[in-house]
Formats: sequence, structure tokens, C-alpha cells
Amino acid sequence: MSLLDIRVLGDPILREETIPVTAFTADLARLIDDMFETMDLAKGIGLAAPQVGRRERVTVIQVDDDRYVLINPEIVEREGSAKAEEGCLSIPDVYADVERATRVLVRALDRDGKPFEVEATDLLARCMQHEIDHLLGRLFIDHLSVLKRRAALAKWTKGKDKYPNFTRRLSAADVASHHHRDEEL
Ligand code: NI
Repeated sequence: MSLLDIRVLGDPILREETIPVTAFTADLARLIDDMFETMDLAKGIGLAAPQVGRRERVTVIQVDDDRYVLINPEIVEREGSAKAEEGCLSIPDVYADVERATRVLVRALDRDGKPFEVEATDLLARCMQHEIDHLLGRLFIDHLSVLKRRAALAKWTKGKDKYPNFTRRLSAADVASHHHRDEEL
């Protein structure tokens, strides 16, 4: 397994739609394992392929002790709505309240290509919506009002020089300095 660099806001890949997976190869399995390793070190609860510079429609999630791999996921039902703070591994140090459905039913393929459905509520539902957005080229800041988005981007502009070439290379120090470890997706 190997640690992957994280792409940050400004890298065009974060704005591209991913490509549905059709082949369940050793390459795909390696990507999934590497994404879990990267997410774990970054103390995130979700990571989508574009965030590591890849175009496969794949996301990995860990909420509480449950791990999920969602391939070609689709939200088939959504219910309720609630606001809560979100962050993103690709927009470090920026947090804002985002309104999301409180319950979703997601249909996806697992790492072997087998279809399944998962019903998610609360934080898991929020995380799945955030990650599925990533697979469609959307970021959490897109859900903010104009004023709040402007404030978030102003904060980002101040810190973005830390990430040359839109690359965030994870290190132990980087991870240790993170306070909002449970809210980054
Ligand atoms: Ni994110």
C-alpha cells in the first residue's frame, strides 16, 4: 500500500465528473487500499478518487467503526434536512455549515462489483452525500450562500500557498496539527 498525495482546491480534477467503473481489477483494489490508508493518516472520514488525482467513480468512508467502499454510487432516496459543520481534506482549515438530507438510501457496487444498498442517517448520510458530490465534481462550498462562500474562499486564499501545485503531501506533523479531525471528508 502507499500513501497518496491529496489534491486541493484549484486542481481542475476536483471539478470533473468521474468515470463509472466497469472493470474490477487489481489496480482498482490497490487504489481502494491506498485511499483507505491515505484517509486514515489524514484522519478523515471520507475520501473520493478525485481528491487523490484519480477519475474512477470510487469513494471510501469510515464513520464510527464501519468502513464502506462505494463504487458508482447513486442516491436513490433522500429524506429530511439538517445543517452541520463540514470540512474537506481538499480544502484544509475551511469549515462551514452545510444543509444535507438526514437520511439517504444509496445504491452502489462493492469492490468486487457486487451491487448493494445502504441506508444511512445523520453523520454517515452527510458523509455519503459529501463524497458522492465529489464524484460529480461538486464541493461542499458549492452549497453555501454567496456571502458564506466568499468568506470561506477568503480564508482558503490566505492558506493555499502551503500547497504548491495544488498538492497536499501528508506528513505526521500535518496530521498532528489537525483539530477538526472528525469533520473532514
Ligand atoms: Ni471532501
